[in-house]
Parts: sequence; C-alpha cells; structure tokens
Amino acid sequence: MFKWFNRKTTESVAEPEAPKAVIDIRDITRTYEMGEFSLQVLKGISLQIFKGEFVSIMGPSGSGKSTLMNILGALDQPTSGEYFLDGVDVSKLGETTLAGVRNKKIGFVFQSFNLLRRTTALRQVELPLVYGGVSGRSQKAKAALESVGLGQRLDHLPSELSGGQQQRVAIARALVNEPAMILADEPTGNLDSRSGTEVMQIFQQLNRDQGITIVFVTHDPWIARHTKRVVMLRDGKIVADRHVAAPLVAGETERPSEAEELEGVFKEAYYGGAKAEYT
Ligand SMILES: Nc1ncnc2c1ncn2[C@@H]1O[C@H](COP(=O)(O)OP(=O)(O)O)[C@@H](O)[C@H]1O
Ligand SMILES: [Mg+2]
Repeated sequence: MFKWFNRKTTESVAEPEAPKAVIDIRDITRTYEMGEFSLQVLKGISLQIFKGEFVSIMGPSGSGKSTLMNILGALDQPTSGEYFLDGVDVSKLGETTLAGVRNKKIGFVFQSFNLLRRTTALRQVELPLVYGGVSGRSQKAKAALESVGLGQRLDHLPSELSGGQQQRVAIARALVNEPAMILADEPTGNLDSRSGTEVMQIFQQLNRDQGITIVFVTHDPWIARHTKRVVMLRDGKIVADRHVAAPLVAGETERPSEAEELEGVFKEAYYGGAKAEYT
C-alpha cells in the first residue's frame, strides 16, 4: 500500500508539451485618427493561432481584415492590447526592432503580387536574403522556387509568367527566409479560378509537408473551405471562429454547391442579415 503510494508520488509524469501559439493577440484595438475624427476599426480582438494551422479570415469589406493582417504582420501597431508573435511581445517594440522581427518571422503574400517588373524570378526571391545579409542566396532562392514548382522558370520576368505563376514567385519570396508563418491578404483575389487552385495547392502543400503556419484573407467561401479554420470578422470583432470539418484538397473537387452550404453556415455571422452590405 505504502509502496504504491510512494511510487506514485516519486514518478514524474511527463506533461504533454503545450502547443505553441505563433500568434497570440489579446484584446487588440486599432483606432485611426483623422483630424477631428477617430475611427475605431478593431474593437477588441483576441485570437490564438498555433504552429501548423491553416486559417482563413473572412468578413465583409471594411470589417477590418487588412487592418488586422497589418498588425499580425507587424507592419502596424495596435492602439491597445497585446501581441505575442512566436513568444515575443511585439506590441511595444520600436520600428527598427519590429522590422527585424518582421523580416525573420513573417512571409507576406499580397493580392497584387508586388513583383518588380524588370527582375527575374530568381532575383526577386533573392532580394529578402540580400536585405537580411544571408549567404548562399541563389541556391536558397532556387530551392524556394523549386518548392513552388517553378524550378524551370528561374530566368523569367513577371511579364513572361501567368498570374498563378507570378503569385507562386511571390510565395517563394515569402518562404525564402524560412519564416514562422505566411500572411496573405486575398492572395487569390486577382486570379482566375484555375490559377487560384494552383496557388491553393501550393499553400496546402507547404502547410501539409513543411508544417508552415498560414493565415490568409479571402472573400471566397469555396477557397476558405480548403483551409482548416475560418475566422469571421464583422465591424472590427470576431463573430465566428470554426474548424472546417473536412478541408477540401485543391484541384480534387470542382466548385460545387457546397460553397453555398458554407455561405449558409456563416451567412448570419458574415452578412448579419444586412444584405445591402455586400454586393
Ligand atoms: N490608414 C487608414 N486611415 C483611416 N482609415 C482607414 C485606414 N485603413 C483602413 N481604414 C478604414 O478602416 C476600415 C477597415 O478597413 P480594412 O481593414 O481595410 O477592411 P477590410 O480589409 O476588411 O476591407 C474601413 O472603414 C477603412 O476605410
Ligand atoms: Mg482588405
């Protein structure tokens, strides 16, 4: 009896390792000051995103998605609240330190690709490494381009690439510094559905095979169904946050009526019944 008791108390039970939040924001607000007016765009947002998650952020135009993404990407500071990025409290860092954190931890992908017009794919992807003073640049850039299926397009200019391929160059550029996460603001917004699928395939592959954390904004419920979690924003607040039961595999299913199904699920949260808000 005693023996059993002793054993029980001396044996150390290994605690399961707590999952690590890459993003941990607590009661974030953001107010824009415009002369006499001030506009509170984010009204107290708390959100945790863990390593390896693939999250889409949805919400009507003007609901604060880009404002939130800019804060998550350390491009902008919240008016109040806390932000721990990969364990570091970044809400109080100055611009210089913040820029360093940004360069090391975050890869950005934009709706409009933001590629340099007269620069080859390889050079575009090398640039973040140049800024970071990293060595072995061309090899790393080549590997990043290969990982997005553009190993045969190293010397191409943006004008010689399709929209989907250009966005893949931008993804390779985001990846090349081996960031803790990729943030993308409507990355498929300027693409036709085939190129959109191409880009989703890359994101899913990066998330699945390399465990890269991905957060992106989309208006498209069908695209959102390819991610693992959907966070819905409305008027600067999170109104829904749900796991996608069975995320779709990009390119495997044709766009069916399930998109409408999801729209149905989120309709109330997304549109709030006010139809006039979206067109
Ligand atoms: N720099 C800014 N100064 C003033 N108002 C802004 C600024 N950026 C965005 N806003 C306003 O904040 C609101 C939310 O914008 P935004 O975050 O871009 O929304 P979304 O990306 O969801 O469309 C809008 O009303 C927009 O006009
Ligand atoms: Mg926006």
